[in-house]
Amino acid sequence: MCVMTRPMSSAVYFDHNATTPVHPEILAKVPEWLTSWGNPSSIHAFGRGPKSVLREARQKIADLAGVQPLELILTAGGSEANNLAFKGLTTKRKHFVVSAVEHPSVIKTALWLRAQGCRVDFVNVNREGQIDLAQLETLITEETALVSVMLANNETGHIFPIKKIAELAHAKGALMHCDAVQAVGKIEFNLRELGVDLASFSGHKFYALKGCGVLYARKGVTVDPLIHGGAQERGRRAGTENLLSVASFGYMCGKKSEIPQQAARTRELRDHMEKRILAEIAGSEVTGPRSERLPNTSSMCLAGVDGETLLMNLDVGGFGVSTGAACSSGNPEPSPTLLAMGLSREEAQSSLRLSLGWENTKEDVDRFVDELIKVVARLRSFEQKVGYGI
Ligand SMILES: Cc1ncc(COP(=O)(O)O)c(C=O)c1O
Repeated sequence: MCVMTRPMSSAVYFDHNATTPVHPEILAKVPEWLTSWGNPSSIHAFGRGPKSVLREARQKIADLAGVQPLELILTAGGSEANNLAFKGLTTKRKHFVVSAVEHPSVIKTALWLRAQGCRVDFVNVNREGQIDLAQLETLITEETALVSVMLANNETGHIFPIKKIAELAHAKGALMHCDAVQAVGKIEFNLRELGVDLASFSGHKFYALKGCGVLYARKGVTVDPLIHGGAQERGRRAGTENLLSVASFGYMCGKKSEIPQQAARTRELRDHMEKRILAEIAGSEVTGPRSERLPNTSSMCLAGVDGETLLMNLDVGGFGVSTGAACSSGNPEPSPTLLAMGLSREEAQSSLRLSLGWENTKEDVDRFVDELIKVVARLRSFEQKVGYGI
């Protein structure tokens, strides 16, 4: 198992669900990949090298997910893959069913389709993060084009019963899309066994370079391009491929066999961290504790502490954490995912998302918890002094 380097020397990074540091082996491979600078579409010798780099990467990504390479459409990231799944779908049906805790790249795409005249329904989740399967079943009809539920949630790490949901979708002739962005590299899965028709990935959540996403479209599912132009990706996504980024994602997917061991290691660290926080910080609580979760993710509420203030104080101490989805930081509104799970605004505003990665150590966790205890005590005593109480 490779020892990962840190993004900054003594800083501790616990925000791997936002993005991951680049794997050191990728940094070492980049100069070699850069020699393949030709256009993979060129038929002369300069294009043949890049073409084979691309072919090899595509094969490894396909192997990771248990599908065929030609079922993959390379995109610029997870957001584009999610947009393509919805907007590129060729169907006469005009109804979409989406879980209430999807990433904004799914929710906002669904809302855009609603503005275009489609019908969109959102399915509730409970405080554990579990989806209401009975409601889901009643919402899916013969009019439903697509059901979209993520494999694992970016904030709580909750893992959804995708196989069961795909069966419900298929029973009414609807297609099933699964945003697997947070699952890639953290848990093992096989898209064929899950029975999904479309699925999205993103390389930068798995120690690869930014700029590579993938939409899996099962053989037989037609997807119209959002980007028109050349014949790349079998006409489903035009534009010269981001070879370096794709090669790096393929390289990481080649590490499939390391995932169970890394997952067990991060789970142990995450559980140790939660145990210490729960024992040593009064008023701390894990969000959705009994649900099946990603091994690296912990979403916690710390009563009486403002999450954004906590984040900034921890940042000053050299700890990188998140209060919700990274894309919504700077937005003072509480996380829509936590609100959808039934947490109060106050609870959601006191939330902290800790997502561990392959380079983290027990020492990182202990240093972090020691700092957290001090910062929480300081913020709470300040709040009491200025009269807000906790
Ligand atoms: C569940 C989920 N889907 C999609 C995305 C978007 O991926 P990208 O940043 O590659 O566009 C993210 C990013 O946070 C995510 O967590």
